[in-house]
Parts: sequence; structure tokens; C-alpha cells
Amino acid sequence: MRLDKWLSNLKYGSRKQIEQAVKAGRVTVNQQTVSHASMPIDPHRDVVTFDGEKIRFYPNLTLMMHKRAGVVCAHHDAQFNTIFDDLPEQYARHDLHMAGRLDRDVTGLMILSVDGTLIHKIISPRKDVYKTYLVETAEPVSNITRLHAPLVLKDGRGKPYTIKPPKIISSTGTTTIIKISEGKHHQVKKMFAALGHPVQKLTRTAIGALTLDETLSEGDVKRLTDAEIAQIFT
Ligand code: URA
Repeated sequence: MRLDKWLSNLKYGSRKQIEQAVKAGRVTVNQQTVSHASMPIDPHRDVVTFDGEKIRFYPNLTLMMHKRAGVVCAHHDAQFNTIFDDLPEQYARHDLHMAGRLDRDVTGLMILSVDGTLIHKIISPRKDVYKTYLVETAEPVSNITRLHAPLVLKDGRGKPYTIKPPKIISSTGTTTIIKISEGKHHQVKKMFAALGHPVQKLTRTAIGALTLDETLSEGDVKRLTDAEIAQIFT
């Protein structure tokens, strides 16, 4: 791959800006100052520095994030910080996509990846990847079994749709654990509002069999191994 294209993909500037940086002697490859921005490099093997800092490149980067409340799942937002603002710089430079979204007040497991095919497999309703949510309500949800019957909700555009019944794992006191494979706008909140029990707090604890790493504090991320990624689909 061309050095300038690779650096530009990693958000070091436009091709023009990178050409200028190279001319100014700010880029080295394997300890040699570079003279041509177009030189071919092997990102897996070559050691590249920019302004003296070694560039950290993670091919096929996939992250687990413990999303915190208050940040939005978007690349940019005029009002709020985004989950991308919480990423350490070496990861933020990669072109990461989100596997679905959580509302601003919702916490828990988010998966981010440079692999668009993986993202599609996680969020496509046809793939039936179940997401587990821990739902806190003010009162015990005595009518939870109503969710076994087809329920019609309105999507983000106000269009009615029949939800696929969730799997109800447990409902003890004011805490209910359910699994859903769809990801419609505010789906869990709308389901519980329909039962007359508005959600007080919502956390996503698992996607497939991959559970939120309890050692991750809110806002933190970790890289996922291939074995962990495979758990999503088991
Ligand atoms: N359901 C919701 O209502 N909100 C979320 O963020 C996720 C699922």
C-alpha cells in the first residue's frame, strides 16, 4: 500500500498534507526519513513514525466498549460527546463502525469494528443474534408474560410494526433480563412502556454469548480476539 494513502486512512491528514509532512522530514519508515509520500509500505511489517511517534496499526480491529451514559452512538454530534470521543487515540484513528446503537442514557456492551461484514452479521435481524438487556423498572413487572403475545409498536418514523417476542430470561423484583434479536428504535423502552412499566435504567450485558467484560469501566474499551468474536454467533 502507498504510504500516503495509509497515513491518510489513519487520519494523519489529506494526501496533500501528508506530502508536505514527508517533504518536511516528519515521517520515517524503518528508521529512514522518507523522501516520497507515494512509497509502497507493508503496514504489517514496516515501522512508521510520524513526528517521532510510532504509528500503531491494528488490522481487522474489533473492540468491545463499555458505553457510558451521556454519550451518543454517532460519529459526530452538535450537542453531545460521542462514543468515538471515548476511544484512545490509537484506536480512534481507525475507521470503526458501530454494531447498532444504544440510546444516550443507556450503558453497556457496544461492538465497534473496521470489518463491515462482521457489523452486518451482528445487526442484521435475519442473522438472529440476540442482544441481552438488563432492565430496571420502578415496580415489579407482574405482566411481563404479555410480551409472549405479538406486540405492535411504532418505529422511529411512526410506522407500526409487530415485534418478534423477546426471550424473557428472568424478572425478579424490579429487574428483568430479556433478549431480543431486533434493534428497532427505542425497542426495549417501548416494550416496557407498553406494559405500563417505563424503563428506569437500561444496560446491554451481552451480544450472542459474548458478555460485557466486568473489568471494563464505563467508557473503556478492549480489543476482541477471534475467539471472543466467535462467541457473538454462538
Ligand atoms: N432499546 C432501547 O430502548 N434503547 C436502547 O438503547 C437499546 C434497546
